[in-house]
Amino acid sequence: MKSALIFILLGFCFTQYVTVQAQNPIGLKVSASLRGLLLGAAVVVKYLQPNIDQGQYNSNVVKNYQLIVPGYELKPEHIWLDENVYNFSDADWLLGATPNTTGWVQQNGMQLRGHTLVWAYDMRIPRWLLDREASITPEKAKTLLRNYIYTVVGRYRGKIQWWDVINELISNYNNTRPFYIANSFWYRKLGIDYVKYAYIFAHEADPDAKLYYNDFGIQQGGFKADRVFDLIDWLKSENVPIHGVGIQWHIKVSETVTPGDAHYQTAQRFIDRNLDLMVTELDISIPMVDSHPVDPNDIQRQGLAYRSILDYVLYFAPRTPALLTWGFTDRYSWIPAATNYTQGEALPLDANYQPKPAYWQMQDDLARVLLNGIYRLSPKSQPSTCLGIAGNSTRSAVQLYTGACNQTNQQWNLMWLGDGTYRFSPQSVDSSALNAYNVTASTGTVRIYEWIGSFDQEWVISCQGNATYRIGPRNAWQRVLAVDQTSNIVIMNSTRDERQQWIIH
Ligand SMILES: *[C@@H]1O[C@H](CO)[C@@H](O)[C@H](O)[C@H]1NC(C)=O
Ligand SMILES: *[C@@H]1O[C@H](CO)[C@@H](O)[C@H](O)[C@H]1NC(C)=O
Ligand SMILES: *[C@@H]1O[C@H](CO)[C@@H](O)[C@H](O)[C@H]1NC(C)=O
Ligand SMILES: *[C@@H]1O[C@H](CO)[C@@H](O)[C@H](O)[C@H]1NC(C)=O
Ligand SMILES: *[C@@H]1O[C@H](CO)[C@@H](O)[C@H](O)[C@H]1NC(C)=O
Ligand SMILES: *[C@@H]1O[C@H](CO)[C@@H](O)[C@H](O)[C@H]1NC(C)=O
Ligand SMILES: *[C@@H]1O[C@H](CO)[C@@H](O)[C@H](O)[C@H]1NC(C)=O
Ligand SMILES: *[C@@H]1O[C@H](CO)[C@@H](O)[C@H](O)[C@H]1NC(C)=O
Ligand SMILES: *[C@@H]1O[C@H](CO)[C@@H](O)[C@H](O)[C@H]1NC(C)=O
Repeated sequence: MKSALIFILLGFCFTQYVTVQAQNPIGLKVSASLRGLLLGAAVVVKYLQPNIDQGQYNSNVVKNYQLIVPGYELKPEHIWLDENVYNFSDADWLLGATPNTTGWVQQNGMQLRGHTLVWAYDMRIPRWLLDREASITPEKAKTLLRNYIYTVVGRYRGKIQWWDVINELISNYNNTRPFYIANSFWYRKLGIDYVKYAYIFAHEADPDAKLYYNDFGIQQGGFKADRVFDLIDWLKSENVPIHGVGIQWHIKVSETVTPGDAHYQTAQRFIDRNLDLMVTELDISIPMVDSHPVDPNDIQRQGLAYRSILDYVLYFAPRTPALLTWGFTDRYSWIPAATNYTQGEALPLDANYQPKPAYWQMQDDLARVLLNGIYRLSPKSQPSTCLGIAGNSTRSAVQLYTGACNQTNQQWNLMWLGDGTYRFSPQSVDSSALNAYNVTASTGTVRIYEWIGSFDQEWVISCQGNATYRIGPRNAWQRVLAVDQTSNIVIMNSTRDERQQWIIH
C-alpha cells in the first residue's frame, strides 16, 4: 500500500505515512501514551482469563490499551439481582472488592470506564423490577434508584474515573415525552426527573468521578443529536453535574469524517457546552457476504476511516481524553450477529489477533511524528551543540559537539521502522545505530553498535512542539535520552528538564 498524505499535528509535528506492516509492533498503548491519549476497548471478563485463546485476548488488551470498559459486567441487568441483592463477582475481579484491594485493572496498570448506571430501555432494566412495577410507588422507585447508584458507585469509589450515568436515552423517533426520551420503568415512575436524580446520586456517591451521557447515532448531528443538546442544556440549567458525552460511533465504512464536516461541528457544539467528549464504542463495519468483505478494498478503506476518527479525537484534545472501540478483535464482535452476517470485520485486529490496516494506521497516526531523513540532534538545554559519535568505529561512543555540526558523524539518518519506533544511524557509520544499554539502570548508557535490529536499538519519539522532541528507548519507553550534569549522554527517568528534550532539525 502506497498512500502518502501529509498531516500537520499541533502545528509543529509532521507525519507522512506509507503503512508498513512490521513484525513486532510496540503496541498502541505506548504510541497513545506518548501522544497523551487514552486508548481503550470494551472487554468481556471471561475472555480475559488466561485459558482463552492461549492468553492472546488478555495479552492484546494489555499491550494495546490503557483503558477498558466492561462490555456488560457493570450493567444493571448483570449485577442487580433483586432489591439489595447484587452480583459483583465480575466487577470485583476487575477492580477489587474493597477500597484497599486491587483487581486485574490495577494490577495491569489499566483504567476502567464504568458503563452504565441506567440503560433507559425496559429490555435492559432488570426483569424483577418490571415484574413488580404495579406495586412500586414513585417514592419507592426513587429509593431503589438511589440505593442502586450509591451501592455500585460507592463500592468502586476512586477506582472508576468515568461513569456512563445514562445510556441511550433519546429515541430516534418523535414521541410525546420530553426530549423524545425512550419509555421505561424509570420514566413511568419518576418522569424526566429521574435523569437528574441519576446524575445527582452518582455525584454524591463519588464526587470525583466524571459523569457522562452515552448514546449512538449522534456523531454527525441531526434530529437525535439536537435532542441530546436540549437534554444537556436542561440538565445544566438545573445545575445537574454532567461532565461529558460519550459518542458511541458504531458506523459503517462508508461514513467519511473530514475536518470541518458535520462530525467536527457536532463535537464542537458539545465542547462549547463545556463538556468532555469521548469516542466510546467505535467499530467500523464492512459489508460482508459468505464471511468475506463484499469489496476487499474495504479493509484498507476501513484503515483510513479509523485514522480519520483518531485525527478527530486528536484535533479536539484535551477535551477528548479517550477513544475506545467496542471490542478489539474480529473474533469477538457484536456486529455480525446483529446484522444477520451482512456486516462484520469492524475492529482493528482480525479474528486471529493479527493487526489490520486499521491498527497500522492508528499506530502511524499516533507515533510517526517525523519524516525519514538526515537530522541534527541538539539538546534544548544546549541548542548550539549537537549529538555525534566520537570515532569511526561501528561501536563508537556518543558525545556533544559544538560548532556547525555539519560533519557526517554529527548527523543522523532517521528511519521509521513501522513498529511504532525509529532507528538513528550516524551518517558516517550508517551500518550502526544508536544503542541503549542497561536501560533500567538509574542512568542507562548510550553508544552506537552494529545494527542488528534489537529492541535496544529502537527508539520512540514524542513531539513536544516547535521541533522539540523526547526520545526514549523501546525497552524503557517511559524513560528518555538525556544529557547529564557532566554532559554525558544517558538514559534517565523523564522530568520536565530541557536536558531531556531534543531539537531535531
Ligand atoms: C454471579 O456472576 C458470576 C460471574 O458472571 C456467575 O458465575 C455467578 O453464577 C453469578 N451468581 C449469581 C448468584 O447469579
Ligand atoms: C484500608 O485502608 C484504610 C485507609 O486507607 C485503613 O484505615 C484500613 O485499615 C485498611 N484496611 C485493611 C483491611 O487493610
Ligand atoms: C419530528 O417531528 C417534527 C415536527 O413535527 C418533524 O419536523 C420531524 O421531521 C420529525 N422527525 C422525525 C425523525 O420523525
Ligand atoms: C438472514 O440471512 C439469511 C441468509 O441470507 C436469510 O435466509 C434470512 O432470512 C435472514 N434473516 C433475517 C432475519 O433477515
Ligand atoms: C575517521 O576516519 C577518517 C578517514 O578514514 C579520518 O580522517 C578521521 O580522522 C576519522 N575520525 C575520527 C574521529 O576518528
Ligand atoms: C561547515 O560549516 C562551516 C562553518 O559554518 C563552513 O565553513 C563549512 O563550509 C561547512 N561545510 C559544509 C560541508 O557544509
Ligand atoms: C551494563 O551494566 C553492567 C552491570 O552493571 C555493566 O557491567 C556493563 O558495563 C553495562 N553496560 C554498558 C554498555 O554500560
Ligand atoms: C525511575 O523511575 C522508576 C519507576 O517510577 C523508579 O522505580 C526509580 O526509582 C526511578 N529512578 C530514579 C533514578 O529516579
Ligand atoms: C515556538 O516558537 C515560536 C517562535 O520561536 C514561539 O513564539 C513559541 O512560543 C514557541 N512555542 C512553544 C510551544 O514553545
